[in-house]
Amino acid sequence: MIEQTDIAGSFILPGTSIAVNRMGYGAMQLAGRDGDKLVWGPPRDVEGAIAVLREAVASGVNHIDTADFYGPHITNQIIKKALSPYPDDLVIVTKISARRGDDGSWIPAFSREELTAQVHDNLRNLGLDVLDVVNLRSMFSIHEPAEGSIEGPITVLAELQQKGLIRHIGLSNVTAAQIAEARQIAPIVCVQNMYNLVQRSDDALIDDLAHDGIAYVPFFPLGGFSPLQSAALSDVAARLGATPMQVALAWLLQRSPNILLIPGTSSIEHLRENLKASTLQLASEVVAELDSIGRASGH
Ligand SMILES: NC(=O)c1ccc[n+]([C@@H]2O[C@H](COP(=O)([O-])OP(=O)(O)OC[C@H]3O[C@@H](n4cnc5c(N)ncnc54)[C@H](OP(=O)(O)O)[C@@H]3O)[C@@H](O)[C@H]2O)c1
Repeated sequence: MIEQTDIAGSFILPGTSIAVNRMGYGAMQLAGRDGDKLVWGPPRDVEGAIAVLREAVASGVNHIDTADFYGPHITNQIIKKALSPYPDDLVIVTKISARRGDDGSWIPAFSREELTAQVHDNLRNLGLDVLDVVNLRSMFSIHEPAEGSIEGPITVLAELQQKGLIRHIGLSNVTAAQIAEARQIAPIVCVQNMYNLVQRSDDALIDDLAHDGIAYVPFFPLGGFSPLQSAALSDVAARLGATPMQVALAWLLQRSPNILLIPGTSSIEHLRENLKASTLQLASEVVAELDSIGRASGH
C-alpha cells in the first residue's frame, strides 16, 4: 500500500479553502491516437490508464487536469471509471472553449450555447453535479496566447458559477491583459499556459500572479508531445543521479511557490519517476545552470 503524502507541499487556491498538492497529474496523455489525430479515441490499454490514475491518487496527487475534448469525452470517462466515487479532497480541473473536428482538429467553441453545453458534457462524463474548477481556454490563437476580449465567455462562466455548476474559474492560453479583464468579472484561481525550462515567455507573468496568490499551472511542463531534450539538462541530471524529466519538474517547483505541476503520462513507470521529482532539491548554482537553457533557446 502506498502511503499518502503531501508531495511537494501544497498551495491554497486564492479565496478558497482548497489545498492542492503542488505535484498533480495531467490526464491528456490517457486518450489514444489515430494516425495524425492526437488525443483521439480510446487508449490501447484502458486498464493501464485506470491504473495510472489510481496510483497517482494513492500516491498523494489531489489535482487532476482534464478536458472533455480529450478523446473527445474518453479521458473524462476513464477518470470517472478509475476514481468515482471521488475522494473528498480531489480537485478535478477541466477546460472549455474548444471542440474537436472529425479530422482531429481543435475548433474554437465559445458561444454561450457551446460553453454551456461543454460544462454539461464535463459534468456528465465525469459523473459530477458541480465542477471544481473550469478553465476558459482562449482560442484567438490555438498554440499561444493572443490578444482579444474574453469578456463575453467569462461572463457566461460567471453565470454558470452563480447557477452552482462551477465552483471556481481559471484561464488558459491567456495574456496578462486577458487575465486583468477576466478578474474584473469573476475571481480567477489559476492560469494554465505553456511554460517549461525552455519555453519561458511567462516569466514576468508568473511573478505577478505569485504576488496576487493566483496559481500558475504550466502545460507541457516536460515539453509536451516531444519531451525536452538538452545536453545541459542531461548533464545536470546525470550529476544528481536523477532523470532529465525529474530535474525539469524540480526546476519548476523551485521556480515559484505558485507553480502547480500537471505532468502528463500514460505510463506508470513515468508517473512514479515524475512524482519522485518532488523530493529533488536543486542548489542555486544548478538552478543557474538550468536557467541558461532557456536563455540559449532565446526565451
Ligand atoms: N491548457 C492547454 O491548452 C493544455 C495543452 C496541453 C496540455 N494541457 C494539460 O497539461 C498536461 C501536461 O501536458 P502534456 O501531458 O501534454 O505534456 P508534458 O507533461 O510536458 O509531457 C508529456 C509527454 O512526456 C512523456 N513523459 C512523461 N513523463 C515522462 C518521463 N518520466 N520520462 C520520459 N517521458 C515522459 C509522455 O509520454 P508517456 O505517456 O510515454 O509517459 C508524453 O509524451 C496535459 O496532460 C493536459 O492536462 C493543457
